[in-house]
Amino acid sequence: MSNKPVTHETELPEDFEIFPWNEKFNTGHEKIDEQHRTLAGLVNRLARTLIDQDYSDVSSEFDELAKYAHLHFMDEESVWLQYFDEDDPWFSSHLHNHDSFWPKVNDIQLANSDKPLHEVVENITQYLIRWLAFHIVGEDKRMASAIQLMESGMTIDQAKILADAEMKDSLHVLIDVILNMHYRLCSRTLALLRERNAHEKNE
Ligand SMILES: [Fe+2]
Repeated sequence: MSNKPVTHETELPEDFEIFPWNEKFNTGHEKIDEQHRTLAGLVNRLARTLIDQDYSDVSSEFDELAKYAHLHFMDEESVWLQYFDEDDPWFSSHLHNHDSFWPKVNDIQLANSDKPLHEVVENITQYLIRWLAFHIVGEDKRMASAIQLMESGMTIDQAKILADAEMKDSLHVLIDVILNMHYRLCSRTLALLRERNAHEKNE
């Protein structure tokens, strides 16, 4: 007989993450990847308030996320600016994308001001995960790939053509990443339903 302690399969481990890091998020730029992992961690902390139903820290979690996202965008833009001119279309559209990130969180808060707090936090968490996954896989990886190609001696025009060609795979990467997250959540949901049914039968 196993000496393992008996645990319910539905108990969420302390380190359960709604937005788990996936190696496919890596851009190859060490500092940017490290900061992206920290951002994902902050989103997980926010999501944790939903699991624990403890909303006392929600506003400080939001503040920390907003501050860190701002810092990260500034750092990331300074990396891009070492290789792109300020008026380069790739850089300006990236900047525009960063600038749209937090105002949308405020829009969601305003649009949901009559809803219970857990619903607002849930909607924002969904938006954050979606925005970050799309932005990292679709935008940051393209910029990082272009700068790596420039580092290897290509001109900016050559690097952009090749980086664009490499991005043809990004849709598959995104689908793979999202499906992985989906499967994890599905198996957890199925476990919860199994336990609920078993509990009802016993009663
Ligand atoms: Fe970015």
